[in-house]
Amino acid sequence: MSTSAHPDSNPQGNRLDPWFDAYAERAHNLRASEIRALFSVVSRPEVVSLAGGMPNLKDLPLDRLAESAKRLISTRGAQAMQYGSGQGWEVLRERITEVMSYEGIVGADPDDVVITTGSQQALDLMTELFIDPGDVILLEAPSYVGALGVFRARQADCVHVPMDDEGIIPEALEQVIRDVRASGRTIKMLYTIPNFHNPMGVTLSLERRPLIAEICMREHVLILEDNPYGLLGFHADPLPALKSFSPEGVVYLGSFSKMFAPGFRIGWAYAPHAIRDKLVLASESAILSPSMIGQMAIADYLSDYDWYSQVKAFRAMYAERCEAMLNALEEYMPNCSWTRPEGGFYTWVTLPEGLDAKSMLPRAVRARVAYVSGTAFYYDGQGADHMRLSFCYPTPEQIREGVRRLSTVVNAEKELVDMFGAGFHKHDIDEVGPGVAPAPNAL
Ligand SMILES: Cc1ncc(COP(=O)(O)O)c(C=O)c1O
Repeated sequence: MSTSAHPDSNPQGNRLDPWFDAYAERAHNLRASEIRALFSVVSRPEVVSLAGGMPNLKDLPLDRLAESAKRLISTRGAQAMQYGSGQGWEVLRERITEVMSYEGIVGADPDDVVITTGSQQALDLMTELFIDPGDVILLEAPSYVGALGVFRARQADCVHVPMDDEGIIPEALEQVIRDVRASGRTIKMLYTIPNFHNPMGVTLSLERRPLIAEICMREHVLILEDNPYGLLGFHADPLPALKSFSPEGVVYLGSFSKMFAPGFRIGWAYAPHAIRDKLVLASESAILSPSMIGQMAIADYLSDYDWYSQVKAFRAMYAERCEAMLNALEEYMPNCSWTRPEGGFYTWVTLPEGLDAKSMLPRAVRARVAYVSGTAFYYDGQGADHMRLSFCYPTPEQIREGVRRLSTVVNAEKELVDMFGAGFHKHDIDEVGPGVAPAPNAL
């Protein structure tokens, strides 16, 4: 896989913009994610969206949160409404070390925690600190679309590492490292989502964790461990984080977005000390300081509520939705295969041979169901034979109905492909024309 194409080969924007030629080269690497483009579809009431990864907040105790927020502002408003430390509020950093102990990271030093505006900002800071144009980031095949967007924008060269139902395949990782180095390129890090992977839903097995950590240590490849879903396992406690196997070789990212709520936009990085210093400088230069009121509200939530019981309630809700999804897939889509998540928000569906998830999407939306095409999760356009289905947001009944609708589209598409061969779908879209079926990038 090569670095992002030269901007001129696929410019974003157009020459009606009088400033088109003035943008920095990297600005041409910014892309609208396929998922963001789907947000307008999600809001249509008639569509069952199995597309978005929005956490389901229906069980949050909003009344109690409102009381806490009121108390916070009336008693400590001057502090809450002020700028804070660039590294983040010490009280919250201490609480975060307790949260991380549930992931097998014990005795963490709050001084090595940096609070960020969601883990998304931490991804951006890490890329800013480590990536010169053309440097290689290794990442799972497939991987989180938001990380791909940051890496692309910062002109990284992304190389996918094969994975299976147990996460990254250690031998494949070693092979990719050898191949990339043989091609003369510089590997800067391995970006990985070990728990309830987005988009595959799989979890890196306990056996593989020390192996992946050991390979990266031996090969001097920094690990960027992104763990927003770790506490959301349906049936078992979290497996120990990669960070616990290699404290000096891993930058660990955590987030309150999925275990609590994304509204305050608070996440964190827990990094080796020297990297932590640089992260603080980079974050100060980007945002001065993370939201003080958000940090204080979350610290209050962690101390005033039984937050772990809330996490357990979330787990039960997502487990029920996941079960509804898997049962519906079994009932309606026996010609497909899919992963069986043990936590998180997503399952990854493999379509029958010859079907193309990206070109099928307009027909799915016409059947009032949405998903994300597998192509969104690859750097290089692979993935058309897959789709990501999210079970986090709709009710179990909606999930069942959504999968039923999807099955009608998949079955019709399969019939056409069986009759006319793969490639029929593209021809079909051209024939039907944009007035009847919306183009995929318009969704
Ligand atoms: C794997 C992964 N990393 C990071 C993020 C960003 O989360 P945050 O809300 O903490 O910025 C997401 C959000 O969906 C995600 O799925």
